Amino acid sequence: MDATAQVNRDLSVLSHVGAGTAGGEMFRRYWLAVSRAEDLTDIPLAVKVLGEELVLFRDGGGRLGLVGLHCSHRGTSLEYGDIESGGIRCPYHGWLYDVEGNCLDQPLEPRGSTFCQKVKHLAYPVRELGGLIFAYMGPHKSNPPPLPRYSALVKEDGVRLVLPPRHWDYSWFNFFENTIDSLHAFFLHKPSRADRSWENAFWDYPGNHHIEAARTEYGMQTVVHWPGPTPDTLYVRLTTLALPTVFSLGGRGVEEQGFERLLFVTPSDDDNFMVYSCDFVPRSGEQLIKKRDQSRYAPPAAEPVKEYDKRKYVPYRGQVWKEDYVCQSTQGKVGYRSEQLATSDRGVILLRKLLMEAVETVRRGGEPLGIIPKHKENEIITLEAFRRILPVSEAAALMTP
Ligand code: FES
Ligand SMILES: [Fe+2]
Repeated sequence: MDATAQVNRDLSVLSHVGAGTAGGEMFRRYWLAVSRAEDLTDIPLAVKVLGEELVLFRDGGGRLGLVGLHCSHRGTSLEYGDIESGGIRCPYHGWLYDVEGNCLDQPLEPRGSTFCQKVKHLAYPVRELGGLIFAYMGPHKSNPPPLPRYSALVKEDGVRLVLPPRHWDYSWFNFFENTIDSLHAFFLHKPSRADRSWENAFWDYPGNHHIEAARTEYGMQTVVHWPGPTPDTLYVRLTTLALPTVFSLGGRGVEEQGFERLLFVTPSDDDNFMVYSCDFVPRSGEQLIKKRDQSRYAPPAAEPVKEYDKRKYVPYRGQVWKEDYVCQSTQGKVGYRSEQLATSDRGVILLRKLLMEAVETVRRGGEPLGIIPKHKENEIITLEAFRRILPVSEAAALMTP
């Protein structure tokens, strides 16, 4: 190990999400995306969130429920249960649970038994917004904080696209930290960007980008900039995130103004996470959908592979997601891996700071950054993000939010 490389063990709290862990308790103060609305049919849907095995369903009355996967009686998976007007019924002995976890019926118990009143099955509040279903798994179940109304989830003057979730098999932190590490794209993704659009200028710039990171009301932003096409302009990439794990990736250039893509990262457990995404395309920009889809589903470029190259993930260059996967899944967990952060890690450094502060705030019984105060529950929150050429003065204003 290099003399200056270090393991910062404090950060290991961010690698654990289970109940009772410091990181897990931090996550349990926020609403987390747990499903797409359209994936929830009349069949129970098993989901794993923060290390907890749960089942999501919509009862016969249309109410959403998220309850413990294993029946309180003797553990059968409610994924195989039946949905009724009043809730979900276990297939084994027929215990029926409503969306609040109350046990309503135990058909094999003696007539007149009141035992079911003593049974309280695990249940969490769930809400639907913008095509996604969010759950709150924290201590204030009867009075959870407001569900954030991010603009991409609530705007009406356009088209919303909610894609199927992606499931990944490494630590959520590596993925989320990468979102604010804007500069990695200029190296890692250069091969897969070479033939793309006006923003070739982004990829052609030979280096010396500047990155600034700053706190925002609910999280942080980074601004990456470098000299624009004229002396009084800059190329600017602005990205914003909200705690705990919401990331905003905006449009490219003026023609994509108003386009939003929000990513919601939800840890399944310490080693797996899900990414939900919601795109909002303004009515004026429907052509964007086509363009976006083309780049999203573009087949991998054929990277020549040497026949004796036995590395597990080869070929990976040419496909953005695979390039990211290779880099993020091989890092190991934060707090256990040895690292040396550099100037280009400004965004990463601030994000870690904010998350560690949130963990500490929760540990002390406070309300962490990113929780919407009650008096702002109807506020529409815009997490601004774009890639654009800006006059130097406008760019400077972005850096002092
Ligand atoms: S195990 Fe579910 S009712 Fe018996
Ligand atoms: Fe990337």
